[in-house]
This record gives sequence, structure tokens and C-alpha cells, in this order.
Amino acid sequence: MLRRLIAVAALAALMPSGALGATGTAAPAKEEKKDDALFKGLGGVPGITAVVDDFAGRLSGDAKLTGRFKGADMAAFKKGLVDQICQQTGGPCTYTGRDMKSAHAGMGVTGEEFRMVMGHMIESLRAKKVDPKVEGKLVGMLLSMKGSIVENP
Ligand code: HEM
Repeated sequence: MLRRLIAVAALAALMPSGALGATGTAAPAKEEKKDDALFKGLGGVPGITAVVDDFAGRLSGDAKLTGRFKGADMAAFKKGLVDQICQQTGGPCTYTGRDMKSAHAGMGVTGEEFRMVMGHMIESLRAKKVDPKVEGKLVGMLLSMKGSIVENP
């Protein structure tokens, strides 16, 4: 009997939460509170802006990358990045730029360039004294975009 109970409980736990509402009769999901811990950990919009400003400066100053960002509108790039990071970390912003695949399409970004760019981001996060745990989470988030940005791994 106990075994059976455990089996039923295990099955229920495995079910996707919406599974029982497949007929549309389930009560509407409770409004979820946005998790903005990462956004707050970065210091909100001012904190993110400070990191992105520093980051853009490092990108422009890196001789190995200057070719990449020479023709780019850095003000638009910075605004896009602030909005994107703000939105993705739970902040009250809306990113209206292109998706990462379209924004970097045809650039032939290499894996090495991606690593260099991420290296600059980490330097900026440290320069702005972002908490190491927050740094780790943000870097993880950015790393997850690699597949949409790098065309020549
Ligand atoms: C996780 C890493 C990266 C993120 C989050 C990111 C994010 C962005 C964003 C938000 C934009 C603006 C798009 C728009 O407003 O439509 C952008 C543009 C751009 N990105 Fe990235 N990027 C990353 C990596 C890279 C790398 C590795 C390179 C090249 C080495 C690169 C080169 C560029 C350039 C040149 C532009 C400007 C394009 C233009 O002016 O039309 N990005 N990126």
C-alpha cells in the first residue's frame, strides 16, 4: 500500500503543472511575481548602465576588436545592451532591438572573439564591484546566447 502511495505521489510530481488544466477548466495561474533579484543585484538601471559604459569602452579600446565595432553606433549598442540585460534580469525595461541572431548575422563572429568580448564583460563587472554570485549568473545568461551570436566557432 505504502509503495503504491509513493508511486502515485511520484507520478503526480512528474506531471507538468498545467497538465491537469488541459481541458481549460483549471483556475487561471496566480500572477507570478517577477524575479528581479539579479536586476537588483546589478544595481538596477544605473548599475547596469555603469557596467555597459565601461564594457563599451573596453571593446572600443581593444585593438583586436576595434575592426568589429568601428562602424557600429555605440550609443545604440549601449542602449540595446542595457535594455536587454535589464529585461532579462527581471527589470522594468523592454528591449526593442533585434534578436541576437539577426543582430549578428553575417558578421562571422568567431568563438575566440566571443571569449574576448566575454572577458571584457567580466572585467567590467569586477571593475564595478558587482557581487561575484551576481557576476556568475549574468555571465551564465550571456554565455547561453553564444549559439545565436557565434558563426565561426
Ligand atoms: C553575449 C554576448 C553579446 C551580446 C549580449 C550582444 C548584444 C548585442 C546587442 C544588444 C546589440 C544591439 C542590437 C540592436 O540594437 O539591434 C549588438 C550589436 C552588435 N554586436 Fe553584439 N553582443 C554580443 C556579442 C558580440 C560579439 C562577440 C561581437 C563581435 C566580436 C559583437 C558585435 C556586435 C556589433 C558589431 C554590433 C552592432 C551591429 C550594428 O551596428 O548594426 N557582439 N550586440
